[in-house]
Amino acid sequence: MRFFATLLALTPAVLAAPAVSQPQSGANLAAGFYLTQVYANGTLVRTPLDNVANLQGASVISRRTASGNPAATASKLGKRFIDCWGRQLDNAGTDKAVDRWKGYLRTTNLELRSPGDANVYAELINDGVTVYYCINAKNTFGSLSLEDFNYALVQMDGRCRRYEASYFRWDGSAEIVGKASVNDRVCLG
Ligand SMILES: *[C@@H]1O[C@H](CO)[C@@H](O)[C@H](O)[C@H]1NC(C)=O
Repeated sequence: MRFFATLLALTPAVLAAPAVSQPQSGANLAAGFYLTQVYANGTLVRTPLDNVANLQGASVISRRTASGNPAATASKLGKRFIDCWGRQLDNAGTDKAVDRWKGYLRTTNLELRSPGDANVYAELINDGVTVYYCINAKNTFGSLSLEDFNYALVQMDGRCRRYEASYFRWDGSAEIVGKASVNDRVCLG
């Protein structure tokens, strides 16, 4: 996990795939990765990403994992914030979403940027469950490794019930890893 406000003027996010505006029933969402934008006015736009390669957009930069990054991971093992929401998620849906995330992060670190007008999160939707990585601040960049993801899951499971909707945020960071129902509003800044 590394995060910092973007210092360079970056081109606005241009999404390759057609966007889907909310509200819509979570049940209508096909399983898979989405890049999702939350605007200040409450509008939520989910963009399906047909495969992992398509995660390489303006807001999402996939980077091959070199050989792990233990230093970066160790730096954020200090304070942390965990929020448990008291609702149970579909167990199989959660497991499948987590497994697909792990499969992705096994070879790639996910670098994600929220632009100036929206908070952005990458999510894996499965059976009404979303497992997501959110950059919870505008003009902010973060990167997620497999170690980071696993760490966040362990923290949630240590504090919340298993399969309970919850999220983990690194202290002092805008980065959140969470699991929720697809109809829950997350990554609201
Ligand atoms: C909310 O803001 C976004 C981005 O500026 C815009 O595209 C969208 O039309 C707005 N939605 C509403 C309901 O005003």
